[in-house]
Amino acid sequence: MLEPGAIWLDTDGAPIQAHGGGVLYRNGTYYWYGENKNAENVADPAGTGAFLDRVDVIGVSCYSSQDLLHWKNEGVVLPAVADDPAQDLHSGKVAERPKVLYNVQTGKYVLWLHIDTADYKYARTGVAVSDQPTGPFEYLGSFRPNGAESRDMTLFQDEDGVAYLIYSAEWNATTYIAPLTDDYLSTRGEFVRVFEQQYREAPAVFKHEDQYFMVTSGCSGWAPNEAQYAVAPTVQRPWTVMGNPCVGPDADKTFHAQSTFVLPVAGKAPGSFIFMADRWNNKNLRDSRYVWLPMQIEDDRLTIHWRDRWDLSEFEQRL
Ligand code: DGJ
Repeated sequence: MLEPGAIWLDTDGAPIQAHGGGVLYRNGTYYWYGENKNAENVADPAGTGAFLDRVDVIGVSCYSSQDLLHWKNEGVVLPAVADDPAQDLHSGKVAERPKVLYNVQTGKYVLWLHIDTADYKYARTGVAVSDQPTGPFEYLGSFRPNGAESRDMTLFQDEDGVAYLIYSAEWNATTYIAPLTDDYLSTRGEFVRVFEQQYREAPAVFKHEDQYFMVTSGCSGWAPNEAQYAVAPTVQRPWTVMGNPCVGPDADKTFHAQSTFVLPVAGKAPGSFIFMADRWNNKNLRDSRYVWLPMQIEDDRLTIHWRDRWDLSEFEQRL
């Protein structure tokens, strides 16, 4: 059973550390990548300008599973760098929201993540590659995609193989959607601006029956806020804002969580998607929890209801 908000243990019995994450499904296995925050919170280190609760960067974790319930720890596949503060992956920086795609043309696994300084002013995306889903990933560097700031971000791979970076730009005021180059290692120089001046974070994009959906959060640091979803006939536009997909008690706080990814469940009825969100514990970030919930889609209507416990038979019942 999946218990949203409980402590989730890996197959070694240790709490799973994969925050702000995403899942890649490949050859019958799910790979869950996320931020390893298994450290004490650090007080604002003098001189960094950090204004938010933080832990030092440990790196990107990977867990594998065949059933979305039992997760094997595959280790830290992109580790922090301890000794050089100039490096993007130095432990004193920020490395958040890793997402991984498989590129059929190059045979590489490509990881993108938000790289920042502790004051969140560096605002870049970093890219890393590996021949294996379980790493190790080779870090290639970071940049500002299309010359714009990039903070919260996600990747979306369309059915035609074209991948997109979706990122909060312009100090989070506007979301940019940019196609990646064929090798998925950079952006192409094209982008569209959506949700202008609407301050959205934590994007999660998926497609169902010729319609694209994007769930986002508002901007309130680690504190939960109301989610919003939008629909579009193409990945890039036009996006129509539909409202809050969450229903019931605490729906206005996304059940005390924040979106990170929407996972299509393999081998189930079309429309079987899991909403993945983080219940941040800002004063003890390593104890942030996972809130995964089944989503219901009817035409362009998306709803998410709270469940104390549920399992994947939820999706079979809809067949
Ligand atoms: C909200 C973002 O969605 C998170 O990934 C993280 O950057 C926090 N802000 C930091 O406060």
